[in-house]
Amino acid sequence: MLAIETSCDETSFALVRVTEGDIPSFFVEKNVVSSQVALHAEFGGVVPSLAKREHLKNLPLIWEEFKKIPAVRDHKIDLIAVTVGPGLEPALWTGIAFAKEIHETFFGKEIPLVGVSHLHGHLYSFLLARLKAGVRVADLFPMVSLIVSGGHTILGVLRDIDAYKKLGETVDDAVGESFDKVARLLNLPYPGGPRIEQLAHEGDERAIPFPSPMMHQKNYNFSYSGLKTSVLYYLKSLGSLATDFTLTFEQKKKLDAIESDGVRENICASFQRAAFEPLVKKSLRAADEYGARSICIGGGVAANKNLPYRITRALKKEGKTLPVVVPPLGYCQDNAAMIAVAAYMRHRTKKKKLPLEADGTLSV
Ligand code: KG4
Ligand code: ZN
Repeated sequence: MLAIETSCDETSFALVRVTEGDIPSFFVEKNVVSSQVALHAEFGGVVPSLAKREHLKNLPLIWEEFKKIPAVRDHKIDLIAVTVGPGLEPALWTGIAFAKEIHETFFGKEIPLVGVSHLHGHLYSFLLARLKAGVRVADLFPMVSLIVSGGHTILGVLRDIDAYKKLGETVDDAVGESFDKVARLLNLPYPGGPRIEQLAHEGDERAIPFPSPMMHQKNYNFSYSGLKTSVLYYLKSLGSLATDFTLTFEQKKKLDAIESDGVRENICASFQRAAFEPLVKKSLRAADEYGARSICIGGGVAANKNLPYRITRALKKEGKTLPVVVPPLGYCQDNAAMIAVAAYMRHRTKKKKLPLEADGTLSV
C-alpha cells in the first residue's frame, strides 16, 4: 500500500506491506516525513496557507524518491490511501489532488484509491508498535485507546480489532494544543510539548495546584481551556505576563527572571501533572468498565514519556499489570504509515468508502 498524509504541517509518504489474517500485521518498507515545524515555529503555530505551499513543494519531491522503489516502479502496489480529514482543508486538498494525479497518470486507475480518516490512523498506529516479548496483538483486546494530539483528545475502546466505540473527548482545547498555548505563555518555541516535557523533568509537579478540569465527572470527556487560563493567571500573579499571549518588553524581562530561579520548571511540571491526571484517571476507569486487557496511546502527545509512566504507575497502585502500548515516536507524530494501516483496516471491514474530498470535521 502507498499512503499520503498532508492534514497539517507534515508532508508524508509511506509504503507499507500487510500480511493478512484475523490480526493483520504490517511492515513499513519506507516512511518519509518532511516536517514544516521550523517554518511554522516563527509564527507560533501552523499557518494553513504556508502549510499548503510547503505540501505542494514537497509532494513531488518525495514522490520522485518513491517512484524509484522497485515495487512502485513496477506497479506492484495494491492500494493507494490518502488522508481526507480531519485537518486543515487547504492542506488536505493538496494531498488528495496529488493522490488523484498519481492514481490516474502513474497507475492508470488500476488499483483502488481510498480516503482515510487521520484519526483512524492515530487509532490504529499501535499496529506499528513493537510489543514487549510475550505480548501478542490478539491479546490486547478489549483495548482502551487514547488519541492525544494537537487537534484531538479522544478516549475510546476497541472491543476487538474491528469494533471501536468512542467514549468521550475534549469539550474545548485538545491536550497538545494546551501544551502549545502554555509554551507560548512561557515564551517557549512551537511545538510546546517536547520543551515542556523537558523542563518538567527538573520541576516539582506539586509546586503549583493547577486544577484538572472534569477529572471527577462521571463522563469520559476532558477540558483544557481552563487549565491554560490558570497558567495565564498564575503568570499574571507573578507580574510576568500580559492578558493575551503578547509580551511587553517589561513582561518579557520578568519572564526571563523566572526562567532563572526554577519557577518555570515548576510551572511546566505542575501543568503537565494537571494535564495528564484526567487522562490517566479516565483511562483507568474505562479499563475497569470494559474489562480492558491493554491501554494504548496514539497521537503527538504520546511522544511524552510522562504519560505512559503515569498510567503504568496508576495501574500498579491498583495491582494491575495491563500492557501500556505506545508506538515508536515516528508513528505517534503525523505520518503516512499509520494512514496505510488505517486504510487497510477500513478496507477489510468493507465499510462505506469515504469521499475523496477534504473534510475538516471528520470524526474517528
Ligand atoms: O499528532 P500530531 O503530530 O499532530 C496532530 O494531529 O495534531 O500532534 C502534535 C501535538 C502538538 O500539540 C505537540 O505540542 C504535541 O503533539 N507534542 C507533545 C510532545 N511532543 C509533541 N505534547 C506533549 N509532550 C511531548 N513530548
Ligand atoms: Zn495527528
